[in-house]
Amino acid sequence: MSSIIQIKDFTWRYISADKPAVKNINLTIDEGKFVGVIGQNGAGKTSLAYAIDGLIPGQYHGVKEGEVNVLGTEVEQFHKGMLQQVVGMVFADPEAQFTAMTVEDELVFGMENLGMSIPEIKERLEWVCTLTDMTPLLAKPPYEISGGQKQRVALAAVLAMTPRVMILDEPTSMLDPYSRKRVFDVLGKLKHENKMTVIVIEHSLENLIPLADEMILMSHGELIRHQETHEFFQDIDFLLTNGVYPPETPLFFHELRKRGYYKGPIPVTNEEAIKVFPCKTGG
Ligand SMILES: Nc1ncnc2c1ncn2[C@@H]1O[C@H](COP(=O)(O)OP(=O)(O)O)[C@@H](O)[C@H]1O
Ligand SMILES: [Mg+2]
Repeated sequence: MSSIIQIKDFTWRYISADKPAVKNINLTIDEGKFVGVIGQNGAGKTSLAYAIDGLIPGQYHGVKEGEVNVLGTEVEQFHKGMLQQVVGMVFADPEAQFTAMTVEDELVFGMENLGMSIPEIKERLEWVCTLTDMTPLLAKPPYEISGGQKQRVALAAVLAMTPRVMILDEPTSMLDPYSRKRVFDVLGKLKHENKMTVIVIEHSLENLIPLADEMILMSHGELIRHQETHEFFQDIDFLLTNGVYPPETPLFFHELRKRGYYKGPIPVTNEEAIKVFPCKTGG
C-alpha cells in the first residue's frame, strides 16, 4: 500500500505563541486507511489537520519547520486550490461552511466549482445522497434543518467533491448521541466503499474504534503514539496516564487482567469481547 501523507520533523508555532502547537511530528499515512486522532484539548490535533490541508501556513502566520507532503508533494508547493481538491475538511461547526439557499445547491456548488459536467454532477449527487441519506432534505434551506442534519450536509458537500483524503475535526462534538451515530453510520459506509483515506479527530471513542484501522494520540503538541487500533488499546495504563479514557469494554478487561481473572489480549469492541467467551452449548 502506498503512503498518501508523509510528515517529516514537522514543527509549527503560531506567531503569537511562545511555544510550538505541534512539534517534531513524523507520520506516514497509507492511502485508504481510516485513522482516528485523539488527545486532550490543546494537544495540537486541529493544528496537525490544518497542516495537512495547507491552512497552516496558508491562512495562519507562524514558523514552520520540516515537511508536510501530500501525494509526494510538499503542501506549500501545490498550486492555489489544488491541495483542497485532494484534502477535504469537515469541521465541528457545519454552518460556517454553508453558502447556498438549499441543501441541493449546497451539494452541487462545490462540484460546479471543480468544473464537473452535468452528468457527472448528477451521478455524484445520487451517490452522495444514498450514502448520507440526504434525499428528503434536498429542497430545504441548510439553515432550517437540525444540527445533526446540518453536519450530514456538510459531510455530503465535501464527499461530493470526492477528495482522496477527508479530514473531520470533531464532526460530532455538537451533536446528540443519535445524530452522532448517524454521522458515524455515514463514515462506516465510506469505510466500506474503501476509496478514501479518512482522518477523524474525535472524542467519541465508542463510535470511532470500530471504524478506525489506526489510532494516533497527541499530547502537548507531540504525536506520542500511532498504532493499529487493537494494539493501541492493549496498553491501557499508558492511555490513562496520557489523558485518554478508554471505553468501558477494554477498561473492564484491563481490570480483569490486573486482578488475574483474564490473561488474553484486551478486546477493544463489544464484538471482540463476545468472542472471548466459549461457544454457547445446546440450544
Ligand atoms: N490561532 C492560534 N494562535 C495561537 N495559538 C493557537 C492558535 N490555535 C491554536 N493555538 C494553540 O496551539 C495549541 C494546539 O491547539 P489545537 O491545535 O487547537 O489543539 P486541539 O485541536 O488538540 O485542541 C494550543 O496550545 C492552542 O492554544
Ligand atoms: Mg481542535
